[in-house]
Amino acid sequence: MYPAVLIVDDESTIIDSLEGILSDDGFEVMHAYNGYEALKKIEAESPDIVLLDIWMPGMDGIDTLKEIKKMAPNLPVVMITGHGSIESAVDATKSGAFDFLEKPLSIDKIMVTISNALNFRKLEEENIYLRKKAIEKNSITGTSIAVQKLYGEIMAASPSDASILITGENGTGKEMVARTIHQFSTRPEEPFIIINCAAIPEKNIDSELFGHEKGAFDEATSKNKGKFEMASGGTLFLDEIGDMNINTQAKILRALESKTFQRIGGGRTLHMDVRLIASTNKNLEQEIEKGNFRQDLFFRLNVIPIHVPPLRERKGDVPLLVDTFFDKMGLQSSDPKKNLSQEALDLLDQYHWQGNVRELKNLVERLYIMVEGDIIGIQDIPQPYNPGFTSENSIEPIQLFTMDNLELARKTFELEFIRKKVDQEKGDLKATAKRIGSSVHYIKKRMPSF
Ligand SMILES: Nc1ncnc2c1ncn2[C@@H]1O[C@H](COP(=O)(O)OP(=O)(O)OP(=O)(O)O)[C@@H](O)[C@H]1O
Ligand SMILES: [Mg+2]
Repeated sequence: MYPAVLIVDDESTIIDSLEGILSDDGFEVMHAYNGYEALKKIEAESPDIVLLDIWMPGMDGIDTLKEIKKMAPNLPVVMITGHGSIESAVDATKSGAFDFLEKPLSIDKIMVTISNALNFRKLEEENIYLRKKAIEKNSITGTSIAVQKLYGEIMAASPSDASILITGENGTGKEMVARTIHQFSTRPEEPFIIINCAAIPEKNIDSELFGHEKGAFDEATSKNKGKFEMASGGTLFLDEIGDMNINTQAKILRALESKTFQRIGGGRTLHMDVRLIASTNKNLEQEIEKGNFRQDLFFRLNVIPIHVPPLRERKGDVPLLVDTFFDKMGLQSSDPKKNLSQEALDLLDQYHWQGNVRELKNLVERLYIMVEGDIIGIQDIPQPYNPGFTSENSIEPIQLFTMDNLELARKTFELEFIRKKVDQEKGDLKATAKRIGSSVHYIKKRMPSF
């Protein structure tokens, strides 16, 4: 399809000559003699670009441009100006014109400008598409009242810059909620940076948070940005804040209060421009009482509290989530789409899901791989979800070779491996962790049902 150009000018000689040049070059060309006509044409024919004369009787070019921007904000508009009319050119830029062509018109300049504008529009459309995809990917599945309420809270909180504290049990979707808030914030194009507060070694904490200059300490062979600096303009997500060491809490608080920080070994004061979101599965009020968490930091973070409900309180969401996860798995494999039987769905809907959505997701992935055929019945659901289940339903290594997706195969093997080892250690997670060279935290994260 050829790009369609709308030419708007009250002089028919300009329209005729532009039409001639552009149709010779393969464009589809349409025209309008005034602003009103132009708006009607845009609505009816949706051109890809508009060439708009600034001086026209009635509604002039600038007013027409403003109306066009209201109707079609992404449609590129190139203004045609009389020689030397700088002031109107400035006005037009403010109102969203893409570029200018000065009379007398030069053919080369027209072609270059149109091609730039069309490329720009293509990029913009791609950006919009990618953002929409990102929002869909991070969207919170569920129609239960609890999830609808959560959704309302997310929408209300997203556009402000106030700090948010997300609470909820393991695997409820706290990180997903944080990403959704970022997508709907005023800074979706800016970075979303995560600090896992439970995992940073005490020794590296300053450098990790605030960065360092070259030579600040022995290992500092080059300048390094910290997470606060990386998140500049965007969102900083303090994950598992309840596990943050008390000394680190003081450092973060100081930075938040002064809204400034310095790289280690650097004299320059950097200004903080981040939207803060923190999350925890702990009850911070209790942690404050126990002396594990600073009350002043809690108040700074808990400006807008958002609680993510456990899965067992989202009645009716399990079937929807199962379907979403099967869809995702289906995209990674060439097998036909699978489903759970109604009986199996009912069984899972009743379960108490201590590991919440993550546990359900793990189970669905496991069933997808282990069960042949497109309908997964109640007899395929293993313990502890199915008290009536008896046989030893585990995956054989050879089955892994029938999988095409490396990531999936790796994950499946890992889950089965951990499951076997925990069995061999008779459910003792500490002993298992020691035996396989991992941590209880890691095992629990992978296998929330343990
Ligand atoms: N409503 C939902 N729809 C689809 N997938 C979800 C939903 N909620 C969570 N998930 C998926 O469940 C998993 C766990 O979510 P997430 O990591 O956001 O939880 P969390 O609360 O941060 O967990 P943890 O407390 O263990 O850190 C992720 O794989 C996520 O994609
Ligand atoms: Mg998390």
